[in-house]
Amino acid sequence: MRILFIADAFAAAGRRIIEERVPAVRRERGIDFVIANAENVADGVGITSRIARKLFAAGVDVITLGNHAYRQREVYPYLDEEERILRPANYPDSAPGHGTCVAEAADGTRVAVINLIGSLFLDAAVSPFAVAERMVDAARAQAPVVVVDFHAEATSEKVAMGRLLAGKATAVLGTHTHIQTNDATVLPGGTAYITDAGMTGPHDSVIGVRTDLVLRRFATQLPIRFEPAEGDVRIEGAIFECDGDGRATAMESFRLLDNR
Ligand SMILES: [Fe+2]
Ligand SMILES: [Fe+2]
Repeated sequence: MRILFIADAFAAAGRRIIEERVPAVRRERGIDFVIANAENVADGVGITSRIARKLFAAGVDVITLGNHAYRQREVYPYLDEEERILRPANYPDSAPGHGTCVAEAADGTRVAVINLIGSLFLDAAVSPFAVAERMVDAARAQAPVVVVDFHAEATSEKVAMGRLLAGKATAVLGTHTHIQTNDATVLPGGTAYITDAGMTGPHDSVIGVRTDLVLRRFATQLPIRFEPAEGDVRIEGAIFECDGDGRATAMESFRLLDNR
């Protein structure tokens, strides 16, 4: 089966290009399952239930989040109710929502998805390295395909997580930096891996935000309110394939420019 992973969807531009282009990508590339990190889809910070429903309607099967998961209060009950939207699994148990789910792909295969957050510069309640193997084993008991979105700042943390889960998870996909790395590969044992899958949204920006506002904040240290940029909208992410046992057999980074 073939899975499309969409990296950090950013603001209305990110949501729009997913709605407009993902149905065709699904058809043309023979995609069986779509996972989208959407932690920035509500104006750059968090997600709302209304936007999540739009992403599901556009063909996204599972939504993952990250450090911005709780920026929109409205979404808290929805995170508890909706099985297919995940916040980091290594957040406290008492926090809204859940961090793992199992969903069914177009071809009937069960796919488990796990959202983990890194320790460096982010508020992991528990080290992702303390729980990742156990969580992947538990997921494997429920589904042959196990995909991990590892939302982390440091390349070292992400590479280490890929190595830890090589041969155990079907894929370990890095998110959060919004800059796609050039290291998509299949690790020994059949684990698709990329250090960072990139960002789905406006790339004429500083990782999604209007360049002038970011430069003014860096130059003045003043608390300037950030706004999403608009130009050079892209989908970024990865496409990988796996066999019936959930071993990855092919992996490539994915980028689609908005060429209207
Ligand atoms: Fe992000
Ligand atoms: Fe993030």
